[in-house]
Parts: sequence; C-alpha cells; structure tokens
Amino acid sequence: MSNTKKMWDGRFESGMAKSMMELSFSLDFDKELLEEDIQGSLGHCRGLVQSKILTEADFAKVKNGLEEILADFKAGKSLFNESDEDVHMAVERVLTARIGDLGKKIHTGRSRNDQVSTDFKLYLRHRAADLLVEIKDLQRVILALSKEHLGRIMPGYTHVQQAQPIYFSHYLMAFFFVLQRDRQRLQNFLALHCQLPLGSGAMAGSAFPYERKLVAAELGFSDVSSNSIDAVSHRDMALEFLGDLSIIGASLSRYAEDFVNWSTAEFGFLTLHDAFSSGSSMMPQKKNPDSMELIRGKSGRLIGNYMTLFTVVKGAPLSYSRDLQEDKEPVFDSVKTVRVCLQVMREALETARWNFATMERKMLGALLATDLADLLVERGVAFRDAHHIVGRMVGEAAKRGIEFNELPDSEWESLPGKTELRTLLTFDFSINRRSIEGGTGKASVEEQFRKAERLLEDSGK
Ligand code: ARG
Repeated sequence: MSNTKKMWDGRFESGMAKSMMELSFSLDFDKELLEEDIQGSLGHCRGLVQSKILTEADFAKVKNGLEEILADFKAGKSLFNESDEDVHMAVERVLTARIGDLGKKIHTGRSRNDQVSTDFKLYLRHRAADLLVEIKDLQRVILALSKEHLGRIMPGYTHVQQAQPIYFSHYLMAFFFVLQRDRQRLQNFLALHCQLPLGSGAMAGSAFPYERKLVAAELGFSDVSSNSIDAVSHRDMALEFLGDLSIIGASLSRYAEDFVNWSTAEFGFLTLHDAFSSGSSMMPQKKNPDSMELIRGKSGRLIGNYMTLFTVVKGAPLSYSRDLQEDKEPVFDSVKTVRVCLQVMREALETARWNFATMERKMLGALLATDLADLLVERGVAFRDAHHIVGRMVGEAAKRGIEFNELPDSEWESLPGKTELRTLLTFDFSINRRSIEGGTGKASVEEQFRKAERLLEDSGK
C-alpha cells in the first residue's frame, strides 16, 4: 500500500494501493492535454472573475502562474511528482505550490468531469484544425503534380485489370477529391462540436453561476452545452473524430496500396525516393516501398482505436464513469498516426519518380475495346450487339496471342467504317472523348484543376 496524500484525503483513511495507482493514474498520457488544461482553467477563471469569486488581481496571478507552468512544461522541466493522478490535479497542485492558497480557488464550481470534457474537446478541435492544414498541404502537392504532368497517359484499372486509358493527372485528382471530403468531414466536426462543457460541474451544473457564453467565447467555442449531464457523459465528439481519422487512414491506405504495386518490377510505374524506402538485411538488391506499406498498415490501428472507444462508451452508465478516462489514448495515438502518414505521403509523392514511358509502354490495345463498341454504336449498331462484336474480336485476338487492334484487316471487313475505325482508335482519342464533367478528357481534368484551386482558396484553414 502507498500513502500518497490525495485531494480527497478528508474523506479517506488510507491511501491508494500501488496496483490501483497503476490502473488509475493517467498523467503519463494525459499530460498531452496540459496546454488545453491551462487554457480551460484560464477560461473558467475568467468566469469566476465575472461572478466575483476571483478579483482581476487574482486572475492576473493565476494567469501568470499557469503560463509559467506551461512554459516550464514546454521547456521540458520536471513539474510532476508520483502523487499526481492526472494532468488536472497535477497542474492545480503545482500552481498552488507556486502562487499559494489562491491556487486552491480555481476549481470553484468546477469538477474534473466538466474540466476534462472541456480540455478534451479543446484538444480535439485544435488537432482537427492542425490536420486540416496537413491534408491541405498534401492536396497542394497532388494538384501541383497533376498540373505538371497533364498529358501523360496510363492504363486505368478495375479489378487490377487494365480497363480504359486515362490521364495520370485524372488518377491523381481522385486522390485530391477524396482528401477534400476528409477535410470537409473535419470541418463538419468543428461546426458540430462547438459547445462549452464548463459550468456543468460534476453532472448537475455549477452552483456558482457565471456567464458561460463569455467563457465559451474566451475559449473559441461558439455556444454552451444545453444539458450538464450530456456535457459530462458523452464522448461522441471523440468517437466521431476517430471515425473521421479512420476514414482518412483508409483513403491514404488505398493509394499506398496502388503505389506499392506501382513500385514493383511488374508495374514499374513509380520509383520511390530512397528516403522513403528501405533495404533488406539479407538481399542486397532489395529496395522496398516501406513508406507505403506502413501507411497501409497504420490504417489498421486507426480503425482499432475507433473500435476501442466505441466499445468503451457503449456501456458506460450516465453521467460520468471512470471508464471514460479510456477515451484519450486511442485519440492521441490516432492523431500522431494520421499526422505522420499525411506527412510521409506528401513527401513521398513530392520526391517520387514517375515512369511515364513505362506506363505508356504497358498499355494494352484492349484498353480501346469500349471505344470500338462506342464507335459502332455511333454507326448505327445497338450497344449490346456492338459489345458482342468487339468481345468476339477480343476473344479471337486472345486465341492468336495478339491484341484485338492488331487483328488483320480481314477481321474488320464486316464492321461499318472499318478503315476509319482503325485509324480513330488511339489512346488519345479514347481519353478525349471523355471530356464530360468528371471524365478523364483534358477539358474535364482542367476543370478539375480549377475546382481544386477554388477549394484550396476557400474556407480559411
Ligand atoms: N482523469 C479523469 C479522466 O480523464 C478525469 C476525470 C476524473 N473524474 C472523476 N470523477 N474521477 O476522465
């Protein structure tokens, strides 16, 4: 047993068991919230000044004390001791040790329940804003690459089988637009979770009323929570955030998967920079696309973190239960993970070599089969019949070990406009028939660039 002195030792005869401390203490990880804890306390103290529990002079002292704690923390000074259960208690203890009894007043009308809910929400909002910037930086790189290489062609795939010719830029812009929705989701998150919990107390509301709207404005919340039980109980904000981060991870993972394939000798479309690859301890020739494999792998833990919190919250009784302390580590881990994945993806794309000659060389004539069917339709053949005719030609070519567009003239005899058809059928022709909005044609891809530029200018962050 240990006999550490606790805040609640008025009520308790013994200290906490060592094993229980190991289970319960969260400072090791929740010190990640220190900055937000200090901001939250300053906001709360502003409210206490407004309700005349603290004077302006008290506030100035508290502010000074808290800011010094933050500066020391950032400078890596040691602040904590083994009796500090969590970041909230640690900060209050250090503050009281430094500024005296005034430090004991800052928790008036507050519980750790509304405190942690506030700190955590601030943290989530801040990290959402950071990630918006990271995603946008990746989008910028994608747009720049797409613009730089417009005109380069490659096979487009379905089922990892060559499907239709596309511009490389069209492929990359798909990445831009999924990231745009990833960003939009975080913006929706910020718009939804904008209510200040402070003032909710332990669960029934604080008995020291202050102007909550004022505190909210101080902390960058646009509103206050409407119900104190809701405010201290629910973690849907964190759950949604983890869901949003899992989706970002899954978006990145699919491109990572393609880029792993593209780096193989079989594809040869992409050479990652050495800085984003690694070698083998045994096979001297190996250069592995580890950056992309790790991004793909990390998406697993993002989904795991989401499931962890889902499982914790689904059975936790209202209002606050200590289970809710388990909300933090999955979030901290996902933030760190998504951030580094976004950075690596951006830098790897910026430095990669794209092997356009190989992309073009690997394009099969079969990519033009749909176009031949379409041309037959334009010459009066019903689409289903055209599909059958071309299918038969492709089958015949396969038997001879050639591409359908290499079949001798005799095989084209019966088609309407046969010689014209053969000269029309080029990759460039196929691509530029698809200038429909959203298609791979040049006009459409250029329109995508314009849209993308507008989206990057829009919406501040
Ligand atoms: N460390 C706790 C958490 O993160 C703070 C809230 C503690 N509240 C309580 N009633 N024990 O959830």
